[in-house]
Amino acid sequence: MKYQSVKGMEDILPQDSRIWQELERIARIELESNGYREIRTPILEETSVFTRSIGETTDIVSKEMYTFEDRKGRSLTLRPEGTAPIVRAYVEHSLNQLDPQLRLYYIGPMFRAERPQKGRSRQFYQIGAEIIGSREPQMDAEIVLRLKNLLEYFGLGGFSIKLNSLGCKEDKAKFKERLSLYLKDKKTGLCDDCKVRAEKNVLRALDCKNETCIQILRDAPNIIDSLCADCKDHFDKVKELMGVFNIGFVEAKNLVRGLDYYTGTVFEINHSDLGSQDAIGAGGRYDTLVKEFGGPDVGAVGFAIGMERVIIALGEKKEQLNKSKLVCIIPLGNNAKIAGMKLAADLRRKLNGLPTERSYALNIITRLNLDDASLNSQMRSANKNNAELVIILGEDELKNNSVSIKDMKKKDEQLLVKMDRVVDEIGKRLGLPC
Ligand code: HAM
Repeated sequence: MKYQSVKGMEDILPQDSRIWQELERIARIELESNGYREIRTPILEETSVFTRSIGETTDIVSKEMYTFEDRKGRSLTLRPEGTAPIVRAYVEHSLNQLDPQLRLYYIGPMFRAERPQKGRSRQFYQIGAEIIGSREPQMDAEIVLRLKNLLEYFGLGGFSIKLNSLGCKEDKAKFKERLSLYLKDKKTGLCDDCKVRAEKNVLRALDCKNETCIQILRDAPNIIDSLCADCKDHFDKVKELMGVFNIGFVEAKNLVRGLDYYTGTVFEINHSDLGSQDAIGAGGRYDTLVKEFGGPDVGAVGFAIGMERVIIALGEKKEQLNKSKLVCIIPLGNNAKIAGMKLAADLRRKLNGLPTERSYALNIITRLNLDDASLNSQMRSANKNNAELVIILGEDELKNNSVSIKDMKKKDEQLLVKMDRVVDEIGKRLGLPC
């Protein structure tokens, strides 16, 4: 019997896992250094956490959730996204007391039973951030800036930012009425999905990709024209701040997003190398959700990036994140093995900055060979594994309390180094700051 992973859910194999670790590492440094703190919520939530926030009529809730009853008959759902669980946790643990403007981030798997295709899986990973506790337009701009910076630090270019505003709850309700009225006598021309949307979730008809729907909606009322004075003012300020932060964007009047909790600013980042699933990240404001979940009446804004899509968009560049540097120690004889174990422990701790020392290079691997293979065969193996440096611990070296270091990228170069200088010498040769 041969098993395969569940359809739409993929293994991340050891030959690729470093790319994922590197994206996560960059995200943690960028977000932590900007005052965001990590939150880890369970993968399962009570189903109503999602139905109440994302909305009963959205695609996610109506078609894509993994929902089941547990042994006690409670309805549970594998989280399809991170925002609703975070708001649940924020209210449950009164996190407003931690900081009135709380910055949070999360990294982890989400689950949606969509039809799998390039850039769309049933288990996928998001890196997300939320600022809870403020309605200030500065926070909208801060969140988009963080998202843009992250993509750039990942090494990604060629993405574009779409921006729109849905207005407050009242604006949204009024606009839905206007749009329904506009579509009233045009429904027969719409695609099957939009016929249903026109009844249940009319806003989504606006971003339908079907050509006839696009034609029909070309003259539809504009959501921006339906904003109240406060929401218009807020959106104008957000756009102004985007200029201040030097964030290029296009206004996209049909951008409505697939989750009901949004109010006000919404945005999406697209990348042309992704094909039909071209959103690499997205987000927006959700100013009523915290209160609806029984918390204080505070505004919030956030984003999530799809990690699989970032990796697809990186293309060949992703290999730069996948690199590590290998140092091999070759001890010759039993005494050398013991000295080698000590040296390996020292190198691993110091070169990788653990627990306290110098650089922050997590990508240096020190391998100590403890079998009795000959120097030649160990050198061949180091070469095959693309080692940068080899440390040879032979009898003569040990007598002199030294090692021989061979730089594998520079032919014929081998030098004798005193034991207490080895870590510094290796660090220097690997380009670490000493
Ligand atoms: P979302 O637009 O549903 O927003 O998802 C965010 C990103 O997750 C998408 O832009 C995409 O890159 C990725 N993604 C979504 N579905 C899939 C899939 N099936 N396969 C691969 N990648 C996928 C949210 O989830 C909101 N919680 C974002 C947010 C945070 N809004 C406010 N705060």
